[in-house]
Amino acid sequence: MRVAHPATGEHASAMDAEPTPTMKALRAHERGGPERLVYEDAPRPVPGAGEVLVAVRAAAITFAELTWPETWESDGVDRTPIIPSHELAGVVEGLGAGVTGLAVGDSVFGLVPFNRDGAAAEYVVVPAEDVARKGSEVSDVVAAAAALPALTAWEALRDQAHLAAGQRILIRGGTGAVGAFITQFAHTTGAEVTVTVSSMAAEPRARGLGADHVVTDVPAGPFDVVIDAVGGDVPESMYAAASPGGTLLVLQEPPSKELAAKHGVNAVFFVVGTRKDRLEELAELLAADGVEVAIAQTFPLSEGRAAYESGPLPKPAPGKTVIIVRS
Ligand SMILES: NC(=O)c1ccc[n+]([C@@H]2O[C@H](COP(=O)([O-])OP(=O)(O)OC[C@H]3O[C@@H](n4cnc5c(N)ncnc54)[C@H](OP(=O)(O)O)[C@@H]3O)[C@@H](O)[C@H]2O)c1
Repeated sequence: MRVAHPATGEHASAMDAEPTPTMKALRAHERGGPERLVYEDAPRPVPGAGEVLVAVRAAAITFAELTWPETWESDGVDRTPIIPSHELAGVVEGLGAGVTGLAVGDSVFGLVPFNRDGAAAEYVVVPAEDVARKGSEVSDVVAAAAALPALTAWEALRDQAHLAAGQRILIRGGTGAVGAFITQFAHTTGAEVTVTVSSMAAEPRARGLGADHVVTDVPAGPFDVVIDAVGGDVPESMYAAASPGGTLLVLQEPPSKELAAKHGVNAVFFVVGTRKDRLEELAELLAADGVEVAIAQTFPLSEGRAAYESGPLPKPAPGKTVIIVRS
């Protein structure tokens, strides 16, 4: 039976059309920095084939992400409005077609591809391959905070630098979010680890992470592997510190070909890729308390803009800044 609405006369079949479900999200409608971010209603995403819908619990921040081209465009096409924060932990809420190995209710963590909407929202859709299950003993905040730094550090040391025991490695910014993981994993590999810090006040922490030598200025080499984990311009001293034929890894942007040629180093930029097997390895490591994950501060989703604005400000502690979406 079709029933007319008493006020409008509209028929029920039209009135009952399902409204698009919405969610709270942090979004930017125009390119820019944290000042563009607004907390507002947004359409709730729907998982496609091979994807899962995750009810986000924690979303970690890499402050530089608002400067990455992938944040704003995909294949050259503008993506605004965008949702930032690609490092997540949450609970599987829905499965797209063909997803195996995950079930509704699973606690998961991982990375949203950088050219898609991120996890600073109540829900996010992510390829099922880009998340892994985690145990309840690992907190959502820690899991979200660890995913990007750990995967980046492993890709740097294992896939790019092929770091081996006994080699000498220099990490510029060895106590930053990514740097702290590189320092820890380089130490467990058995390398001799030298790190730079912005102030010697960070020396005890750097040593606790596994640094053998802690300095404020880039030292003369030679080092087999040199990694810049600070961001911004890479000083020429980093190219000079690598041994001839050694490897310089740059995380923020492609390195200078001229300086690489001048110093005879193999200078490489890469963007981390998500690997389910490494997320599973990380879940085990976190469950065993096998790696230090530092959390600088947390913000509720409604204050997500303040979280991003805090990037250049002094932090109450070293480590990642994490948005708590649900607790
Ligand atoms: N390519 C990729 O796949 C990938 C993945 C993740 C991150 N990244 C990039 O990696 C970079 C680092 O990211 P992050 O999240 O680790 O940043 P972060 O947490 O801000 O770490 C940067 C570190 O550098 C230190 N630092 C600043 N100036 C320094 C100096 N002159 N000498 C020594 N240390 C100095 C900072 O110490 P203080 O706090 O004491 O100043 C901080 O510990 C960013 O450029 C990011 O875009 C790239």
